[in-house]
Amino acid sequence: KKTKDQLVIDAGQKHFGATVCKSCGMIYTASNPEDEMQHVQHHHRFLEGIKYVGWKKERVVAEFWDGKIVLVLPRDPSFAIKKVEDVQELVDNELGFQQVVPKCPNKIKTFLFISDEKRVVGCLIAEPIKQAFRVLSEPTGMQSPNSKECPRAWQCSDVPEPAVCGISRIWVFRLKRRKRIARRLVDTLRNCFMFGCFLSTDEIAFSDPTPDGKLFATKYCNT
Ligand code: ACO
Ligand code: ZN
Repeated sequence: KKTKDQLVIDAGQKHFGATVCKSCGMIYTASNPEDEMQHVQHHHRFLEGIKYVGWKKERVVAEFWDGKIVLVLPRDPSFAIKKVEDVQELVDNELGFQQVVPKCPNKIKTFLFISDEKRVVGCLIAEPIKQAFRVLSEPTGMQSPNSKECPRAWQCSDVPEPAVCGISRIWVFRLKRRKRIARRLVDTLRNCFMFGCFLSTDEIAFSDPTPDGKLFATKYCNT
């Protein structure tokens, strides 16, 4: 993954090197037929998955100049649930996560960031938890970009700390990253998770963070 990201050169060299699709964000080699075919498949499935038609009585919990955040709850109409499932599948696919079966599916809250182009460009899935384990310093060797160690081998404290809300997934569409979408999703979650109170950063926990997730979480929790 890392090498792919570093190869992004979109200088109009249509037939050499890596290209980033400006619609679906996939990085692929246009000169490689197999890659190109994978792209075509991904392209359609992805754009279909993030297409947002909306529904009557959608629960808009925040509005911004560049989009809005919609909250979906387990008892919502089936088309709302279907949209959440489609997006979650794309996200899990991208992250290489196994589908996890939540302990209390009826307590899951899903926040979707909808762009002005009517696309789901961000997703946050949260559930109530009772305790969390703090991530300690990174194991040595992780600092090296060439490290072959498992990127999720963070060291966790074995002392549980009380927590209220677990973020089991947070994802932002590749082409919309670093526009504070994740930050706005977490702010909105803290505001909406428990009626009448704004959760502190100590009360939320990120489960099994990826390197991106950890960078974001560290920054978010310190500001
Ligand atoms: N590298 C370094 N710092 C980062 C990164 C990064 N990749 N991403 C976020 N930050 C920090 C920055 O300081 C940023 O502020 P700045 O842009 O002003 O410098 C701050 O966090 C806020 O970032 P946002 O713009 O709100 O984050 P974004 O909308 O880009 O989304 C996310 C971050 C969700 C991690 C995104 O990169 C993503 O979807 N990655 C792929 C999926 C993933 O790995 N998700 C986390 C899985 S772990 C879990 O789900 C529990
Ligand atoms: Zn594409």
